[in-house]
Amino acid sequence: MSKEITLSSENKHVFQSSEEFRKDALISDPGIYQKAEDRLAFWEERASTLSWFKKWDTVLEWNPPFAKWFNGGKLNASYNCLDRHLAGPRADKNAIVFEGENGDTQMLTYKELHHEVSKFAGVLRSLGVKKGDVVTIYMPMIPEAVVAMLACSRIGAPHSVVFGGFSAEAIRDRINDAKSKIVITADAGYRRGKVLPLKENVDEALKGVAEIDKVIVVRRVGLDNAVQGERDVWYHELMKDAAADCPAEEMDAEDILFILYTSGTTGKPKGVVHTTGGYLTGVSTTHQYIFDLKENDVYWCTADIGWITGHSYLVYGPLANGATVFLFEGTPDYPAKDRYWELIEKYGVTILYTAPTAIRTFMKWGESYPQKRNLNSLRLLGTVGEPINPEAWLWYHKHIGGERCPIVDTWWQTETGMIMISALPGVTDMKPGSCSVPFPGVKAEILNRSGQPVQNGEVGFVAITEPWPAMLRTVYGDDKRYKDTYWGTWPDRYFAGDGAKIDEDGYFWIIGRVDDVINVSGHRIGTAEVESALVEHPAVAEAACIGKSHEVKGQAIAAFVTLREGVAAREDLVNELKNHVAAKIGAIAKPDEIHLTEELPKTRSGKIIRRILRDIAEGRAIGDTTTLADASAVEALQQIGKQ
Ligand code: WTA
Repeated sequence: MSKEITLSSENKHVFQSSEEFRKDALISDPGIYQKAEDRLAFWEERASTLSWFKKWDTVLEWNPPFAKWFNGGKLNASYNCLDRHLAGPRADKNAIVFEGENGDTQMLTYKELHHEVSKFAGVLRSLGVKKGDVVTIYMPMIPEAVVAMLACSRIGAPHSVVFGGFSAEAIRDRINDAKSKIVITADAGYRRGKVLPLKENVDEALKGVAEIDKVIVVRRVGLDNAVQGERDVWYHELMKDAAADCPAEEMDAEDILFILYTSGTTGKPKGVVHTTGGYLTGVSTTHQYIFDLKENDVYWCTADIGWITGHSYLVYGPLANGATVFLFEGTPDYPAKDRYWELIEKYGVTILYTAPTAIRTFMKWGESYPQKRNLNSLRLLGTVGEPINPEAWLWYHKHIGGERCPIVDTWWQTETGMIMISALPGVTDMKPGSCSVPFPGVKAEILNRSGQPVQNGEVGFVAITEPWPAMLRTVYGDDKRYKDTYWGTWPDRYFAGDGAKIDEDGYFWIIGRVDDVINVSGHRIGTAEVESALVEHPAVAEAACIGKSHEVKGQAIAAFVTLREGVAAREDLVNELKNHVAAKIGAIAKPDEIHLTEELPKTRSGKIIRRILRDIAEGRAIGDTTTLADASAVEALQQIGKQ
């Protein structure tokens, strides 16, 4: 497949896993790609490795753009992640190894996790939660968060996990959209030595939400007044006398497993809907094959459960595969900048899955931190969330992977549910900066707007040309938005929203989003969300945001703001506006830069020309301005570019 193969030289651009790795790899036969050409047979065989209460009638029913996978089949995700491991030696294997920010630890075997989940599932049932009721989860990275997710899926209640860094308003929008009546949260969480007031945010969010029945509060920090009134109840009190005999509900393969909100091109986040059978088939297969999972691995995915990576590769994929998952509450630099490496050494982590932004941060801190620790347990590394620059890839390979660990660069999305493009480490060669080739059974191409494949090396748009089992089924409550957003560009082919190239070996090189989504440290932020937060501030008349390249974060948010008539640009206004956005959405959406300007560049029909704003923010020469309604708008903006 490739020519200049080497393991250690940084000058060569194709890497191959060591012979030793390939010899022991779970998937070592390149014939798998050929075999999976019969996609439906491949996925059907994969589905049959799960436990089903009843077998499916059809593998795929495809009425574009609506798919049903394994229709007629019955199974339960929680059962697949827990009960089915209890018969053999996995019962006493650690499912979760947890360490909190303050160094507190907890281990839960599969038997113990099953016990906790069964109890909590029974508690939810006794509170009246029924199959189909959406439960909102807003929690820190603690074992109870995983228990909550699996308890929901055990009784067939779709969960909607809201990232713990989101603000009250973001929680409220998601609760309202999902019509959720139960919230599971914690009194607070720890972050860099501070206490994050999660319950307080929930209280704020619930002002004006009439429908909420119960708020269940896990005691994490010990804030005694976090539970007040009829509505609130402590988790530990509910669990005290709960029975652990809650059988798993038999779910249809196409019943909703969860909703997860993600940013799109409008101000309103989309509730991405994932169902049970296809999703579980997709995430368990990709997790097992791409991470070359072995029985004794200690697997660490650093993503928060509030994101899709947390759902698919911290909870459902690994637990369905009976893996030992390391769960960590803290951050890489607290109490010191070697925290990750300390944990890898302490727990003998063998597989590490993290984001390029984290790797670039580690690079900036320097290799002395990982050097102090013994990282020899590591045998495989992964990345996700944004393109990885080859320098960061090489640094990761050398300083974390000891030039011994293959790196899988995995491309996928909230909507795809599972990894779509990635190397198989025992088979596929790796090129730093490329996410390699589509996973067996996945069909991806790079197309132009009119749906023709582009030439090798030419930029086009990522298209998935055949349905895949873990695909989103719709946008919650909005089939039209689902159709328009993902299937409106080309008939019957999925538009991912990413620009990319393919090289002569068929390797994909992702460039980035082509829509109004900014990728900040691997997190998707819609420009429209930030803009609507800004215009809600009384001083702001109009706002436009763009993503500006950033050395560590990949992209940072830059906002251009015009003020209302009569509002003077106070000195502290820019800071006030930044904080306003953080309060409305969450700290991850806080703009790095806000420029106050007299005017925004617009077309004659009033559309903001973001391309010009991008040129200004990046300090580039401004491109074509012929579509501008008023050329003088640019003159004022150019002054900003010079600052
Ligand atoms: C980007 C995260 C390049 C991409 C799983 C995609 C990537 C968006 C990669 C989805 C990668 C994710 N290389 N870009 N390996 N992985 N992306 O929904 O732009 O939070 O569309 O899912 O992240 O982000 P999301």
